[in-house]
Amino acid sequence: MNIKSDKKKVLLINKTIKDGALLEKAFRDISSPLEIIRLRDTQKALGVLNSEKIDAVFIDYALFNSSPGFIREIRKGNLYIPVIAIIQKGKELQAAEAIKEGAYDYLLKDAGYEGQLSRVLERVRGAASLNKDKDDDLEQQSILFRQIYKSQKWWQNIIDSITDYIFVIDQNYKILRTNKAFANLFGKEPADIIMRPYYELFGLKQPHEWCVIGKSADGASQSAVERTLNDTYYLISYYPIFYDEHKAAVYIMKDITETRRLKDQVYHLDKLSSLGTLTSGVAHEINNPLTGIIGYTEMLLMKNEDDTTKKYLRNVYDSALRCKRIVENMLTFSRQTPAQKSVENINDIIDKTVELHEYWLKSTNIEIIRSYGKVPYVAVDRQQMQQVILNLLINAEHAISDTDRRGRIEFKTSFDSELKLTLIEVADNGKGIPKDILPKIFDPFFTTKPVNKGTGLGLSIAHGIIAEQGGSIEARSVPGKGTSFIIRLPQAG
Ligand SMILES: Nc1ncnc2c1ncn2[C@@H]1O[C@H](COP(=O)(O)OP(=O)(O)O)[C@@H](O)[C@H]1O
Ligand SMILES: [Mg+2]
Repeated sequence: MNIKSDKKKVLLINKTIKDGALLEKAFRDISSPLEIIRLRDTQKALGVLNSEKIDAVFIDYALFNSSPGFIREIRKGNLYIPVIAIIQKGKELQAAEAIKEGAYDYLLKDAGYEGQLSRVLERVRGAASLNKDKDDDLEQQSILFRQIYKSQKWWQNIIDSITDYIFVIDQNYKILRTNKAFANLFGKEPADIIMRPYYELFGLKQPHEWCVIGKSADGASQSAVERTLNDTYYLISYYPIFYDEHKAAVYIMKDITETRRLKDQVYHLDKLSSLGTLTSGVAHEINNPLTGIIGYTEMLLMKNEDDTTKKYLRNVYDSALRCKRIVENMLTFSRQTPAQKSVENINDIIDKTVELHEYWLKSTNIEIIRSYGKVPYVAVDRQQMQQVILNLLINAEHAISDTDRRGRIEFKTSFDSELKLTLIEVADNGKGIPKDILPKIFDPFFTTKPVNKGTGLGLSIAHGIIAEQGGSIEARSVPGKGTSFIIRLPQAG
């Protein structure tokens, strides 16, 4: 190779004579001047590569695949010659394999592959134009190739270190590049998904509506969308780019599930606090006239002799008392009445609360089981604790009355000496709570009961009271079998 000439030499390693002839023709059609050396195995090719200056190697993938050390052998001779794998149509995934093995590029042998060939050659020519006849230049060239290879690796490492999901697709929605995170999202490695239509990974038959590839400029005007994909919220942004003069797009997907959840929670808390202020205002406003109604009704009841009038007055009196209870509940809910703590025994509080309710429990034939453990005294507001127990008891009764089995409510107490927590469990064999409503039961005004039976405040009040004592309350339920509420109270002091 001492003759200075512009003529490039290409090595074509191929077994099938027919294919080889076709390729040769394709080369001639699109490129000149070009010398094509045809060989049928890699061993011979290595010989040629070591003795002649070759600008590029085109190799059938089947041969490439059956000689695993081929590229390494070429590199051994310190030659950085671009190797292009020839892939049969329909076997696109092999392209990724070839690139992974160190191929410079690939050529897809489909109906219009001459078009591709010119592009591939263009790129090879760009790379090979560094080729000069002098050995110094060859050395220079191999350094440059190594640098390109290194910087490519460097960038790949950088995008692989990004935890957001990044992928680049071409006009046919096929993945050209991706980072590790995106491939891992589907339990795969990047090489496994290269050249696959991206939407298939999501289990779809066609692209998402937010995919801008193939859309008019209008459709592409939005550059970030929020979408749920397989139960996860993503912020998806895209950037159009060019790849070999073809349109492509870079997609970046960010998992924003947690952010969304926090945002919703803040919004919910905000709503609750304004509701609290509103409620306590209204409750105070109602309390005064209500006290008047109750007082005057009591007076009229004492003064009146007529039975019918007395009956009506009693109705007014009872209803007014009911209103007062509701208002008191609302005030407790908005925590306007400060807790008055004293040292109490939880078992005793439960006993007294159940006693107050005994008559009703008897009439509904519900069995009460007391499984009390030895528990330390706790500093709580007795009235408020009674209210919590009562709310849980009434809920249990309601849940039982919706079934036709004999009711059973168990009160279990124990002390966790390690965590220094008093545990109270109230378990019933009622109808249970469906999975989808379980997360809502502590929400104020959430009820599944008819208007005269439930206000939806019971559990939210209980939750508020327990939280104020520094404890926690949670519900566990097996729909159709029963529910248990578990309260954890920290030890005083
Ligand atoms: N022990 C229980 N068994 C079944 N469902 C329950 C139980 N306790 C509470 N719930 C459910 O939680 C909802 C909210 O309860 P609560 O806040 O006490 O309001 P209310 O009892 O007024 O409906 C109830 O409507 C009911 O659907
Ligand atoms: Mg209730």
